[in-house]
Amino acid sequence: MTSGKVFLVGAGPGDPGLMTVRGLQLLRAADVVVYDYLVNPVLLDEAPPQAQRIFVGKQAGTHSIAQCEINEVLINYALQGYQVVRLKGGDPFVFGRGGEEAEALANTGIAIEFVPGVSSAVAVPAYAGIPLTHRNYASSFAVVTGHEAIKSKSSVDWAKLATAVDTVVILMGLHQLPSIVAQLMAHGRAPGTPVAVIEQGTTPRQKTVIGTLTDIVGKTAALKAPALIVVGTVVSLTDKLDWFAGTGPAGTTYFSSAEDAGAERS
Ligand SMILES: C[S@@+](CC[C@H](N)C(=O)[O-])C[C@H]1O[C@@H](n2cnc3c(N)ncnc32)[C@H](O)[C@@H]1O
Repeated sequence: MTSGKVFLVGAGPGDPGLMTVRGLQLLRAADVVVYDYLVNPVLLDEAPPQAQRIFVGKQAGTHSIAQCEINEVLINYALQGYQVVRLKGGDPFVFGRGGEEAEALANTGIAIEFVPGVSSAVAVPAYAGIPLTHRNYASSFAVVTGHEAIKSKSSVDWAKLATAVDTVVILMGLHQLPSIVAQLMAHGRAPGTPVAVIEQGTTPRQKTVIGTLTDIVGKTAALKAPALIVVGTVVSLTDKLDWFAGTGPAGTTYFSSAEDAGAERS
């Protein structure tokens, strides 16, 4: 039997043009594509017509497929000799549980290859006209999960983070926004610090709301996942650099289950 292989591939943040050349090459040669809710469905058309397409994201109203079940799917197809593309939103190793899948595959001895993707952490701010660093305003940035901001023992040390870097990018933080801004201000960030919340970034449905740590919560009640938060002086540059807003046709859903609150979980 020919041996299969699993390619852990980043699909980019939503705009299909942001998938890498290597990723697209592999997708076009795949026998099986196993994909998540953050993958733009348009990309699935790139796989050969006969390729199996398996959705393992969270279905509306149900629980996510357990990580061990996803691992099993990948392993089983690879053991049958298939070329399996495991397609994940953004970059597989940025809050994508790609590390866990990679470990599970490595434990079985199955051949693996990693193809990084353009992470929403950098691409979504860029499409909103926000450079994460800028010679005059920011020489450091951090990317953190906001998912656990309400837990007393959050895995993110908000007290240290608040003033440790100039720009903070928070993924999976929309529902935790009130706790996040409270933590940042309690630990030394000025209340007037600019904040951007960007929904469905890099797609024609991108929506950006700008405020400060004090008023952003009130302004973003209607936003839905997937959304990303940027905190820092660089956010002000969007006034001048917001090149993408309103450039695409409206009315299309760009993610397999974008309205699903599960998009806020890793
Ligand atoms: C589980 S994480 C996966 C991140 C992904 N691996 C990456 O590198 O972009 C999902 C979170 O990423 C952010 N995200 C991903 N795509 C986004 C997009 N197009 N617009 C806004 N936020 C996005 C949101 O914060 C969402 O809750």
